Formats: sequence, C-alpha cells, structure tokens
Amino acid sequence: MKVNQAEFVISAVRPEQYPDDALPEIALAGRSNVGKSSLINRLIARKNLARTSSTPGKTQHLNYYRINDEIYFVDVPGYGYAKVSKTQRAEWGAMIERYMLERVGLKLVLLVVDLRHPPSKDDISMYEWLQHYNRPICVVATKADKIPRSRWQKHIKVVKETLNFRQEHQLVMFSSETGMGKDELWSIIQSYTHE
Ligand code: GTP
Ligand code: MG
Repeated sequence: MKVNQAEFVISAVRPEQYPDDALPEIALAGRSNVGKSSLINRLIARKNLARTSSTPGKTQHLNYYRINDEIYFVDVPGYGYAKVSKTQRAEWGAMIERYMLERVGLKLVLLVVDLRHPPSKDDISMYEWLQHYNRPICVVATKADKIPRSRWQKHIKVVKETLNFRQEHQLVMFSSETGMGKDELWSIIQSYTHE
C-alpha cells in the first residue's frame, strides 16, 4: 500500500479516548522491545513516527496512528517488562483485555515475536488468549536480519512449534531493518480491512 499520510492521533488509556470515526484498526501485541513500534514505522515508511527505543517499556498507552484516512495502527504496550510494578501490570492487563475483547473496529492483531528466540511463555499465553476469544491473528516473526538466511527456516519451525501454531493463521517473516516481509504483511492487512 502506498502511504500518503500518516499521523499520530492519540495516546489513549480509556475507551472514551479511542477515535470514533469507525476506521478499521490493526493492533500490535508482543513482548516489550520486540520491535512493534519499529514495525509500524517500516510499514508506513516513516523513520520515527511511532516512538521506538532500546529501553523496553517505551510504549505505555494505546497509541493510535491514522494512515491515509483508511486505517489505524494501534501500538500496544509490550508485555513481560520486568521493571513494571504489579499495579501497573494489572492496569495494563485490564486495558489491553478490554480493548482486544470489546473494540468493534479491531480487524486484526499482529502478534509480534522475535525470530531469533523461541516464543516466551507470555507470547504463548497471548497467542492462546487471542484464539480463545476468536480474535483474528497474524504472527509476525521480526528481526530476521539478525540471523543468517540459511537459518531462517529452522527458526520459523521453532517459532511454530513453540507457539503450537495453527495452520489457519498466517505467519510473516519480517525485518524492520531491511523491509523484508513488508509487502506480504500489507496484503494480509488489506485482506482484513477491505471486507
Ligand atoms: P516497547 O514499546 O517497549 O514495547 O518496544 P517495541 O516492541 O515497540 O520495540 P521497538 O520498536 O522500540 O524496538 C526495540 C529495539 O529493537 C530498538 O532498538 C529497535 O531499533 C530494534 N529493532 C526493532 N525491530 C528490529 C529489526 O527488525 N531488526 C533489528 N536489527 N533491530 C530491530
Ligand atoms: Mg513500542
């Protein structure tokens, strides 16, 4: 997709703050620091519109980005960040849960995992949780540039086995560094947003 316009809209904590123009939404879920914000930036070809950082826990609210007045990307805070307090974690959980379960405009959840490592316990729980509630999922294995091409398939196999990946879902190998997987992911996103 050609991105002509991309803008940050709001950093929301409560449902009343979510945009009300009924555009389809694509949410990103994944471990803190896995590369969710970088993935958005790569997809929309903007260097740093979605805030990225080498410090985990950068994204703390639901950050809405409107693309071409057609869709929203919703950057969701990452899970599994050790330095977050119990209270914060509980608040985070409630916010995400509510958003993922109740948001009518949510068309697809991109579950972002790191291709280099087997998915974590939290990744597995998130994948199971999303399936349990029948949310549409696409798994994105990112940071592919960090391992040699000759080992990609082996790593994909580990990701699939660890997640207990279901064939009806799609899995995209991705790199925000090189742009690998960008076109494939856009076409999947469009298949969910142009119904
Ligand atoms: P939180 O907002 O804390 O949940 O993190 P995040 O998932 O948004 O991660 P972010 O996009 O901020 O990226 C974390 C770090 O990984 C940054 O230093 C990025 O430059 C780096 N990174 C992200 N994606 C890639 C990738 O595909 N390849 C490489 N080599 N580095 C990446
Ligand atoms: Mg982020």
